[in-house]
Amino acid sequence: MQSELNGSKAHDEMLFIIIHQAYELWFKQILVEIDSVCEIFTGDYVQENQIATAVQRIHRVNRIFELLIQQFTILETMTSLDFMDFRDFLHPASGFQSSQFRVLETRLGLQNSQRVNPTFIKNLDSKDAEKLQRAIDAPSLFTLVEKWLEKMPFQETENWAFWKEYQNVLHVTFEKDRQDLKNNPHIPVEELELSLSRINMMEQGFDSLFDKSKYDQLTDRRLSHRATLAAIFISLYRDYPLLQLPFRLLDAIIEMDENFTLWRYRHSIMTSRMIGARIGTGGSSGSDYLAKTSMQQRIFADIKNIAGMLIPRRTIPNLPTEISEKLKFAFELR
Ligand code: HEM
Repeated sequence: MQSELNGSKAHDEMLFIIIHQAYELWFKQILVEIDSVCEIFTGDYVQENQIATAVQRIHRVNRIFELLIQQFTILETMTSLDFMDFRDFLHPASGFQSSQFRVLETRLGLQNSQRVNPTFIKNLDSKDAEKLQRAIDAPSLFTLVEKWLEKMPFQETENWAFWKEYQNVLHVTFEKDRQDLKNNPHIPVEELELSLSRINMMEQGFDSLFDKSKYDQLTDRRLSHRATLAAIFISLYRDYPLLQLPFRLLDAIIEMDENFTLWRYRHSIMTSRMIGARIGTGGSSGSDYLAKTSMQQRIFADIKNIAGMLIPRRTIPNLPTEISEKLKFAFELR
């Protein structure tokens, strides 16, 4: 313990060390799972039963994340005054030295350009920096899942395209919203205009979904046009047996993104409880920096945002038999 080496043994430093090591062990397990999921999606063809394995492993990662979020409560049995008994002896060590955390973010698909402060990742020794570089050079889970989505068939036949049908439903939905507003005598004129312009804006936003060149110009989207359309298709037709597993995979990924974000935010809240508004030992603005990472560094935000592009079940266009037959199990019990 650093406090002991400095001749002033602080009781709580052991808890601090044990907690950090426990986190690092679990980070290691999460990395093992994520690496294996990436491997499943690396080949040209991903087998159906392999998707089930991937889903099961991401579920495991999610349970681990829940434990890691919970684990902060044990650390919080140490008060901020207890922490001050040894905090000064830790300089210049900091969470920035966790190479496993940096590798994990990267394996999942966090891009440097997305970071609140990209220079902070340089806080690693040369061996760890090499490990991180290897992770940066390898395809991330985000990229692999995106490629897999891009290959998703079933969305069109010679005479039918899901996107045209979906576009029609959206148009009718927006039109109905407009009519409902106009028919409501209790809405003040200014409010009505505001709401109508909001609907128009939303409709224009959706337009990019049907025009790849428009979509490609959007600066706030990372998931490719084709992958986004496939994710919408899977989410809408999830009740077909063949799309169940792909849907569960996307759902598990969204949950993982949510859990990672919760971890980041929980860590930031714990930090503000421990050190208030002080700066971190690694030189960041402290809990403020950490809170920003939870908002800005979401990796699978585009998959999560598919939720805002769905339409009510009763309005989902029927699939032509040619496609719906392919999406069923080969043998049905009657
Ligand atoms: C008293 C407890 C803790 C405090 C006050 C604290 C505070 C901080 C602060 C202020 C930072 C920003 C970097 C800096 O300027 O130092 C940070 C980063 C970090 N901490 Fe903690 N931390 C604590 C416990 C933990 C624990 C138990 C873990 C578990 C592994 C952890 C993992 C990390 C990681 C991975 C980062 C980098 C986050 C990023 O850049 O996105 N911290 N911590």
